[in-house]
Amino acid sequence: MIVIRPPRLDELAAIMAVHRAAFGRDDEAALVGRLRADGDDAFELLAEADGAVVAHVAFSRLRIEHGDDGLALGLAPVAVLPAWQRRGVGSTLIRHSLEALRKQPMRAVMVLGDPGYYARFGFTPASRASLHDTYGGGDAFMALALHSGGLDGYRGRVDYAPAFDLLTD
Ligand SMILES: CC(C)(COP(=O)(O)OP(=O)(O)OC[C@H]1O[C@@H](n2cnc3c(N)ncnc32)[C@H](O)[C@@H]1OP(=O)(O)O)[C@@H](O)C(=O)NCCC(=O)NCCS
Repeated sequence: MIVIRPPRLDELAAIMAVHRAAFGRDDEAALVGRLRADGDDAFELLAEADGAVVAHVAFSRLRIEHGDDGLALGLAPVAVLPAWQRRGVGSTLIRHSLEALRKQPMRAVMVLGDPGYYARFGFTPASRASLHDTYGGGDAFMALALHSGGLDGYRGRVDYAPAFDLLTD
């Protein structure tokens, strides 16, 4: 059985191990630690199966060129242990996260990822809302309004937290 819940304080090593295994490198694991250290980590959830952490997602603060009110978050990184991939765990984790953020006073979430994957959660190209990322993501940079009008007033360049400079590509 899969349980979706916030991480406990002593679970950083297990969370980092999930990212390391899923991405096959250290960058995203280090990113999770750095986001926490910098205080830019706004929300996290993990999936537990048989007492072990099998998936994790982090949401961090973004800076938006125009209209920034601190109520938009970036979804990243998200990872599912290889043995648990393609079994709906990632989708369940993301759906639970978005539901939880809807209940907080958050307005929008942005993500740089595969449009074929994130469209299922309602993400659409951020360029439609006159937003762009600093990585040249094009249509892979997507936005989701958590409520009607959630993207209203946001415009221009979107900067991820400084911890994202750790990513090598
Ligand atoms: C991407 C990831 C989080 C998805 O989690 P998951 O539990 O494997 O995905 P789910 O089982 O919820 O969804 C499976 C669906 O996603 C699709 N999918 C899985 N990984 C994908 C990827 N990297 N790109 C595009 N589609 C992907 C599958 O084709 C499948 O689609 P279908 O349901 O139409 O067959 C997970 O595969 C992972 O950790 N990958 C390695 C790390 C990574 O790339 N993270 C995302 C960076 S944006």
